Amino acid sequence: MANGLMTVSYVAAAILFILSLGGLSRQDSARRGNFYGAAGMALAILASVFGAHVNHFEYLIPAVLVGGAVGWMLAVRVEMTQMPELVAVLHSFVGMAAILVGYASYLQPATPLDATDQTFQDMQAVLGNLFGRAQNDYSSAEHTVHLLEIFVGVFIGAVTFTGSVVAFGKLRGSISGKPVMLPARHWLNLFGLVMSVFLGHLFLQATGSQGLFPLLVMTAIASLMGVHLVMAIGGADMPVVVSMLNSYSGWAAAATGFMLSNDLLIVTGALVGSSGAILSYIMCRAMNRSFISVIMGGFGTGSGASSSAAGGPQGEAVSISAEETAHLLVEAREVIIVPGYGMAVAQAQGAISEITRRLRAKGVKVRFAIHPVAGRLPGHMNVLLAEAKVPYDIVLEMDEINADFPETDAVLVVGANDTVNPSAQEDPGSPIAGMPVLEVWKARTVVVFKRSMATGYAGVDNPLFFKENARMLFGDAKKSVDSILAHLPS
Ligand code: TAP
Repeated sequence: MANGLMTVSYVAAAILFILSLGGLSRQDSARRGNFYGAAGMALAILASVFGAHVNHFEYLIPAVLVGGAVGWMLAVRVEMTQMPELVAVLHSFVGMAAILVGYASYLQPATPLDATDQTFQDMQAVLGNLFGRAQNDYSSAEHTVHLLEIFVGVFIGAVTFTGSVVAFGKLRGSISGKPVMLPARHWLNLFGLVMSVFLGHLFLQATGSQGLFPLLVMTAIASLMGVHLVMAIGGADMPVVVSMLNSYSGWAAAATGFMLSNDLLIVTGALVGSSGAILSYIMCRAMNRSFISVIMGGFGTGSGASSSAAGGPQGEAVSISAEETAHLLVEAREVIIVPGYGMAVAQAQGAISEITRRLRAKGVKVRFAIHPVAGRLPGHMNVLLAEAKVPYDIVLEMDEINADFPETDAVLVVGANDTVNPSAQEDPGSPIAGMPVLEVWKARTVVVFKRSMATGYAGVDNPLFFKENARMLFGDAKKSVDSILAHLPS
């Protein structure tokens, strides 16, 4: 493929990525957005693989096929509820790639390999086209800038890599959600940063490949910083951390793009980096956290540490049967359904959609209230409801519907817990104090679908269950919804 054609393909891919982000911002255009993203990535890969100077397809094609097959298998097998873990692992790959490209880029000019060796030249061409043109002839200023790109790229890559691995462990539950607060932890972070700047100075001064030592030491320090930064963050703040790591991985990719002089990688990295940063900001606002305080960690403990939890049981929870719930729903004029993580676990969205259809057919006004961090990843609930063919126009964001609860006859809280916890407003000592929540307790009757009295993701007890107007419908949400359906006229 000629260089001109490759550039045109890269520009087209970049435009498709921008269209993809635009499409993903709205539920009704999300499918289209996904398609644009996939098409852009396919075009980018094709343009790189069939770009100029690539000859050894016998290595490249099997690598692409194996990578593609692994990706395909993961995508087919992963459950929606495991998606954040998968995303965290993918971020760690981007971080690792930035580290490897950084080291390769640094060592390449001094490589002992014979540059006239045909295989070596082919490898360079493949890497060059895949990731950009490898440029070895630098003027002194260009050389310094290139070294700086390598150093910064490896730093961001190392923080992203280890931070994402720890985030993966926390999301999976193999590492405790409790924040690990080392004494003087802010000073430790500052020390790591200052040391890295100092090592950067040594790296830029070094001749030949002597900079390898400061680069290695900085990689170790940045890796520890990644572990420390994410370990200090509590379970309740993990959603922000995931989107923050998403942003870091974008900047790591952009840094890789600079190292390899690949414009597409720079554009794509910047898109991911800035959209991740914007998403982190939006989520911080949704959880009433300052971005800095989340990054610095120590919020959102991982086990029931609220002040109310220390006070023991706060009353008696009253249970309700599926039949009584069905009766409540047919009598109601206005119903709001609040889905949460438990609906995803139980895969109850299809049955919920059927309840909605039947109630609407009877003239009941049914709407859905979506908390920005309901579930385990942004937009989790919207995706499930869209999949179950719930009409878009009755699915409302928290801000659009929160004021309507006092006029609502019945609220169904389906597998949601933290996002409807009144202690966020009523208990200043709660780990989720100040987080905006759906004010479901203001409705006439609230029915909470869950299997036990256990806490939600943030590990905080929920006084909602003991409110006078609250009723508990115990059991798996799918089974409960199915039993309600059995008592609803079709
Ligand atoms: P949670 O607070 O996690 O509560 C989910 C509830 O669902 C649990 O209390 C659980 O109670 C119940 N449940 C689980 N399986 C069930 C089943 N099969 N049938 C019925 N109930 C079931 O959920 P939420 O209200 O959606 O809040 C989300 C939480 O996750 C927030 O703390 C948020 O910060 C965090 N988080 C969010 C994200 C994003 S970006 N959305 C990412 C990571 C973390 P039982 O065990 O008693 O059934």
